[in-house]
Amino acid sequence: MAAEDRRAFFREVVALAPMATGGNLPYRRLCKEFGAALTCSEMVLADKLVKGGERPLLRSHPSEDRFGIQFTGKHEDVMAEAARIAVANGARFIDLNFGCPIDLVVRRGGGAALLKKPARLARLVEAVRQAVDVPLSVKIRIGYSVEKLNCVEVATAAVAAGADAIGVHGRTRAQRYRLSARWDLVDQVQQAVGVPVLGNGDILTPWDLARRRRETAVRSFLVARGALIKPWIFRELAAGEPWNPTTAERWAVMRRWCDFALEHFGDDAKGLARVERFFLWHLGFWHRWRPYTEADFRAQLPDSLIQARSEPVDGDGDAALLASGNEDDHRLIFGRVLDRDYPAV
Ligand SMILES: Cc1cc2nc3c(=O)[nH]c(=O)nc-3n(C[C@H](O)[C@H](O)[C@H](O)COP(=O)(O)O)c2cc1C
Repeated sequence: MAAEDRRAFFREVVALAPMATGGNLPYRRLCKEFGAALTCSEMVLADKLVKGGERPLLRSHPSEDRFGIQFTGKHEDVMAEAARIAVANGARFIDLNFGCPIDLVVRRGGGAALLKKPARLARLVEAVRQAVDVPLSVKIRIGYSVEKLNCVEVATAAVAAGADAIGVHGRTRAQRYRLSARWDLVDQVQQAVGVPVLGNGDILTPWDLARRRRETAVRSFLVARGALIKPWIFRELAAGEPWNPTTAERWAVMRRWCDFALEHFGDDAKGLARVERFFLWHLGFWHRWRPYTEADFRAQLPDSLIQARSEPVDGDGDAALLASGNEDDHRLIFGRVLDRDYPAV
């Protein structure tokens, strides 16, 4: 594949960000239906992959026509071999995760620890570049800590080493989700590199997207928590306006995920237990959704966290149930979705 085609792969896309647990295959399939351009595996550890592990994480659904596999690691030969395995297992693109903040990974010199060593990071990118021909993105943060905001340096080194796109989460490793994403720095990366930047951080509404398009040179975007709260965010972002589903429509969306999950995990006792575990995990995000208008968004500038609105939803009695954070309510919701015990759309 020519370098220009590989870069074009990442141009002007709104993609589902890579997510552990949240990026399970049934959920990716749901987001794909709502319009996510790219989907990506949960993070895979290159070390484990080359030893024959992590295989379930490589699976994708046929509807995922632009599916990528994300991995992290710190040895060139291992990363190169992991890339070959990923492509052999259907990855249409590869994403290298150098933003991973997890202690276990960082303490061993992987993930975000590589942000402190741009030359070493670049050698890993180069090893992968030489091993495979598919589009290659590199996901970074704006720096390891506020004292080391070196994303422009890291991105430039990664592109020189062969990256076709740079995903930039506008936060440091240290800050986790505190403070809003620094889009001024995400923009600086796009100004500095000649490949698409996938801007990432706090895109929760169509107005967030419009603002980033207006105020920065970034043209491609990754959406994580917004898609966990409402998988239909991709539809909203494409339309440029919110879609506030009725409770009946929300039951139907939850059932849709369930159908995909039963198909993927199986409907025997073991499969059902996994479907339930994931469903309850997803409800931890889904229940935070609230209908909202542009006025709500304006009232909360500059941070438009939709879950900040806490008043109950109007409509039928189920609206309050679906907004509940209570675990017993979540089990009740799961039972009703399984039994199809909810009003038709
Ligand atoms: C549940 C969860 C799991 C995540 N797992 C990964 C991961 O495996 N790889 C990765 O690069 N980022 C991971 N992230 C980070 C997101 O991809 C994204 O960079 C971050 O959430 C900021 O985007 P947002 O503001 O749209 O949520 C994860 C985020 C969440 C919420």
